[in-house]
Amino acid sequence: MKRILTIVITLSLFSSSVLKADEGMWLPMLVKRLNIADMQKHGLQLSAEEIYSVNNSSLKDAIVVLNGGSCTAEMISGKGLFLTNHHCAFGVIQDNSSVDHDYLTDGFWAMAMKEELPAKGMTAGFLVEMRDVTDAVLGDVSITLSGAERDAAVREAIAKVEEEIKGDVESHYDIRIKSFFEGNEYYAFVYETFRDVRLVGAPPSSIGKFGGDTDNWMWPRHTGDFSMMRVYSGADGMPADYSEENIPYQPKHFLPISLSGVEKGDYAMIMGYPGSTDRFLSSYGVEQELTVRQPNTVKVRESRLALMKEDMNESDEVRIKYASKYAGVSNYWKYFIGQQRGLKRLKVKEQKQALEADFQKWVNASEERKEIYGNVLKDWEEGFNESKETSLYRTYLNECVFGSEALVMAYRTSRLSGALNADPVNQEEVDAQIEAVKKTAEKFYKDYNQPTDQKITAALFKFFSEDIPASLQPEFFKDQVSKNKGDFSKLADKMFAKSIFRSEASFNEFLSDPSAKALKKDMVYTYMKEFLNHFRSEVAPMMGPSQDKINNSNRLFVHGLREMNKDVNYYPNANSTMRVTYGNVLDYYPADAIYYNYYTTIEGIMEKEDPTNDEFVVPAKLKELYNNKDFGQYGQDGDLRICFLTNTDITGGNSGSPVINGKGELIGCAFDGNWEAMSGDIAFEPKLQRTIAVDIRYVLFIVDKYAGAKHLIDEMKLVTNEPVKPTLDAPAPVDAVKKDKRAIMKKG
Ligand code: ARG
Repeated sequence: MKRILTIVITLSLFSSSVLKADEGMWLPMLVKRLNIADMQKHGLQLSAEEIYSVNNSSLKDAIVVLNGGSCTAEMISGKGLFLTNHHCAFGVIQDNSSVDHDYLTDGFWAMAMKEELPAKGMTAGFLVEMRDVTDAVLGDVSITLSGAERDAAVREAIAKVEEEIKGDVESHYDIRIKSFFEGNEYYAFVYETFRDVRLVGAPPSSIGKFGGDTDNWMWPRHTGDFSMMRVYSGADGMPADYSEENIPYQPKHFLPISLSGVEKGDYAMIMGYPGSTDRFLSSYGVEQELTVRQPNTVKVRESRLALMKEDMNESDEVRIKYASKYAGVSNYWKYFIGQQRGLKRLKVKEQKQALEADFQKWVNASEERKEIYGNVLKDWEEGFNESKETSLYRTYLNECVFGSEALVMAYRTSRLSGALNADPVNQEEVDAQIEAVKKTAEKFYKDYNQPTDQKITAALFKFFSEDIPASLQPEFFKDQVSKNKGDFSKLADKMFAKSIFRSEASFNEFLSDPSAKALKKDMVYTYMKEFLNHFRSEVAPMMGPSQDKINNSNRLFVHGLREMNKDVNYYPNANSTMRVTYGNVLDYYPADAIYYNYYTTIEGIMEKEDPTNDEFVVPAKLKELYNNKDFGQYGQDGDLRICFLTNTDITGGNSGSPVINGKGELIGCAFDGNWEAMSGDIAFEPKLQRTIAVDIRYVLFIVDKYAGAKHLIDEMKLVTNEPVKPTLDAPAPVDAVKKDKRAIMKKG
């Protein structure tokens, strides 16, 4: 699953659980202490050291974080080759595509290293080590200290710890210190990040995105959602900018690939970079999600998608330009539809209320606890009540205001504007900012279609104007709306007509002689500035107190919960740090009387085929291989398996993560979650929640038989194992609504 990225504000998160397989995104460093025995019980044959070690090579060295957390990938050769999802490389494939070289439609395969295409802007990071720095950060901070004072004390301590770590690691490593368990623990992460990444191979979208938005977030699935890239280093093995002189990076570890396939009950684990979960969200928070963020995000995105699609259908050029943007908007449009449905169906708010009632009872039983935790629920309730309007505003700022592409581009000139407005002007700084903006602009305009953006801006601004209370709208915006008599296409027309942001030519003209004055009188720039200033000076201060209450209750609740359930091992919410989740290959019952098998086959591709619907086109070559049953060593019993399920715990950011068997071999590449458990980021659903992965044998089949890129197969290490007898019984049918209580962070 790919991580959701928002421009302005990200929500705070958190999480928890019990010692058992399936639920839990565990910290690799703690596997030895918390999980290893249970993992081995489930079928793992490795030691904790073989999963995570600082001194010796271990599985963690084969795990790659892309772009600091947008997706995960895994090394599959000693020459820098890695595997990730098609949808993780989608932007890169799109960036390298044109009407003449349409790699989105046709796929791309480098038949030699020199044919590989630069993945501009993409980085590949490796975790060198992690450290528990909780004592150093919180040692002097009392549990009752809250708000700005607490933030300042923690910030200061973090800066100190960071300096210390800098002193004992290599100078080119990045250090990140992150909060866990809602500010109750802190860990430091040291990364080595490579900047020269190249596209090696990607199937056509009719394979890599087979099923499109219709099948997205759903099982049964038949998507070959994979692509391959390569990491390059300088001649010295160190991270370097793109250069022809660079050499393939030699990872400390790469995953051998199992040709033996998977059976129900087989051990499966996933290592990767889940982006964010909110498993400790309060019942009040669930209510706000259901009434404010989710329905409105869905509503606004629906209209944005329809407008994009109109223009994409009109022209191939626009189709290619907007393919990646469309996929991004649509992915989380559907996600939020599913999440609302899941939260209601599985009565997540009620589950949370039950837990909160238990918590309150525990608090009330002791004066000392009342002292510390007495206000947790009250502050939560107040915080969420007081933030209803500002939270609506925040959703619309992200979705509507920053849904305007030109406005985002204007935002990216903020630093240049700062340099131009400095007194005295520092020409060197101005020049540096011009250079930086030039690069941003080049990328931006390559995929920009002004008429599409103008149309969308008009529609989104209309939503903002109609849905946000007038008292929360910037004066400037209200003036413009009334000047244009509520005609938003007229408003957008005027906003764009003379703006320097309307085209690459007009923007470059501005850059050739940039002035603060030109920006100041530019309408797009002015809208951006007015919205942002209004947010910073009016709305953010309103949000502060309620956010403080919520954050503080989050922290204290988690602290208390862990004390209340001392024998439960909780895991922290996802936060784009490396995690391990483990369980088994497993089927499920999505609803009463319906059974879903744990794997799909190529028969299903043929069943879904629809040449009149671009989401379900089957490429001729694939059909030929199917008709000839030409599956080679990748088939099983005369059939070819496409995707399979595991009961592991993943979320956005895990996209591209390796599914690994008990011996540490690659068996699949994770790419999605299932529709029946879309509320999973807020409450894990053991009986329903599944990870969807593409079977590694389908990946190899496409590379070898479909693309004829045998040289890549030769680069990998393929292994075959004796079949192991499956151990699990069939899962009990479940009435999805009467779910078991274990999912709400109770002892299992
Ligand atoms: N749901 C998948 C994820 O979040 C993305 C799949 C991309 N496919 C699509 N049809 N948009 O990672």
